[in-house]
Amino acid sequence: MMLPSNLMLISMVTIVVGTNRGNSKSAELAKFYEKSFNEKEISCQVLDLKVLPSDFIFTECFGQRSEQYAQILEKYVINADKFVFVLPEYHGGFPGIVKSFLDSFSGDLIAGKHAALVGVSSGRAGNLRGLDAFAGVLGYMQVEVLANRPKLSNIEGVLKGGVLANAENLAKVEKQILQLISII
Ligand SMILES: Cc1cc2nc3c(=O)[nH]c(=O)nc-3n(C[C@H](O)[C@H](O)[C@H](O)COP(=O)(O)O)c2cc1C
Repeated sequence: MMLPSNLMLISMVTIVVGTNRGNSKSAELAKFYEKSFNEKEISCQVLDLKVLPSDFIFTECFGQRSEQYAQILEKYVINADKFVFVLPEYHGGFPGIVKSFLDSFSGDLIAGKHAALVGVSSGRAGNLRGLDAFAGVLGYMQVEVLANRPKLSNIEGVLKGGVLANAENLAKVEKQILQLISII
């Protein structure tokens, strides 16, 4: 039986690269997630925050909205029901730009949706603190955050040429992807 179109189960995963740094390891990991979703025939799209207008913190927050930015929100936030946030560790936490991105739109656009978080760091913590803090922010925005949050430390050593070499990390990430997919 066909579901009425307004009840049809659509699923689109937006993978957010939580930094605007060029050639980031976070972007490389986002591509890994994209490839994995594609292999499972799950629709997904990557939003690298480096593509946001460079002045969006001033021009797109607090009620102002350009057509260009509205289209970004439409495509990557409104039309998605699941999110992966790839969060690099900067000074012991998540980068400010990813919080500014959340602050640039109403929480209504993301409330009730689901998110998976993954931490990335050069050092040993895998952005443990940043993951916890970001989960708190999303929780406030009524986003359902998966409890399974892989922490990928020593990222330069374990992610090379888009390949996640470390078997333990690979298993954690694949498990998380399957958990996100299985949410209806
Ligand atoms: C501003 C800044 C602060 C950083 N602070 C930390 C840190 O506190 N701990 C750490 O392990 N790595 C830190 N790093 C290194 C990043 O974790 C590293 O670049 C890693 O590849 C993830 O960031 P990326 O996605 O920008 O590549 C920092 C990098 C930048 C640019």
